[in-house]
Amino acid sequence: MSVSSPSQPKQNLPLLWSILSVVTTLLVIGVLFLVVILAMSPAGQTLVQGMNSLFAGSSIQLWWYVTRAAGIVAYLLLWFSMILGLAVTSKYLDGLLDRMFTYDFHQFISLLSLVFVGLHIVVLSLDRYLPYSALQILVPFLSPYRPAWVGIGVLSFYIILLVTATFYLRKRIGMQAFRVIHILSLVGYLGATLHGIYAGTDSVLPAMKLVYAGTGLTVLFLTVFWLVLAALRKRPAPRAAPAHASRPKSQAGMRS
Ligand code: HEM
Repeated sequence: MSVSSPSQPKQNLPLLWSILSVVTTLLVIGVLFLVVILAMSPAGQTLVQGMNSLFAGSSIQLWWYVTRAAGIVAYLLLWFSMILGLAVTSKYLDGLLDRMFTYDFHQFISLLSLVFVGLHIVVLSLDRYLPYSALQILVPFLSPYRPAWVGIGVLSFYIILLVTATFYLRKRIGMQAFRVIHILSLVGYLGATLHGIYAGTDSVLPAMKLVYAGTGLTVLFLTVFWLVLAALRKRPAPRAAPAHASRPKSQAGMRS
């Protein structure tokens, strides 16, 4: 009877991932194929028309809606990533989650936030209402709409891109540089928040005001908590009092 070694499940993982990715790809292709066939049928045509009117598909502002939605999702993911990043440094989630998991999750959420920022800015160029050129998207303060606040969004994008890239360059640049660059994420987050509030159309809505206040305050609180912890850790430990200091006065003067 063969006894499986503890390393065997780990060895099977790549094979499992390959099978899983092939099955997922086949499923996605199958579903896409079905959707195309369905859309071409008369019933599908009616469905497409219904979806068009439901999601304002024929509206000239369709891409404007998409860019706004993608911006809000990107912002929320960035906030979540900040919360996880601060949990890694302050260790406040250590009782609940393994710190390596928190770190990996933090890295994944940062990347996902960047994907939505990508969608947010690529869609701007598709917009028929106020189309953006590549230069207006990539060079800060060239935007035809609220140039200062959109410019701050562009700068935040570069900061977030740099910080996320260092996840993959950590070994090359070293831990010290990784930590210093990571502190910049606070500037990127602040910039993205101001950009969302002052460039966004939705920030006048009470719900969005609540979102910005809630997310901003949690990051502020956790940053202060992290700074206080760091200051406490740096404080030199109190030196052990000399033995005679604890002796009563009457004994302190006595010679043994
Ligand atoms: C190249 C970088 C960027 C460009 C050109 C850009 C452009 C814009 C523009 C034109 C708007 C106004 C849309 C509206 O009318 O509501 C906007 C809003 C917004 N952006 Fe960005 N943005 C950039 C980066 C970012 C980043 C890095 C984030 C967050 C991670 C972000 C999140 C948001 C949010 C939350 C809104 C508000 C949406 C709304 O309330 O309607 N943007 N952005």
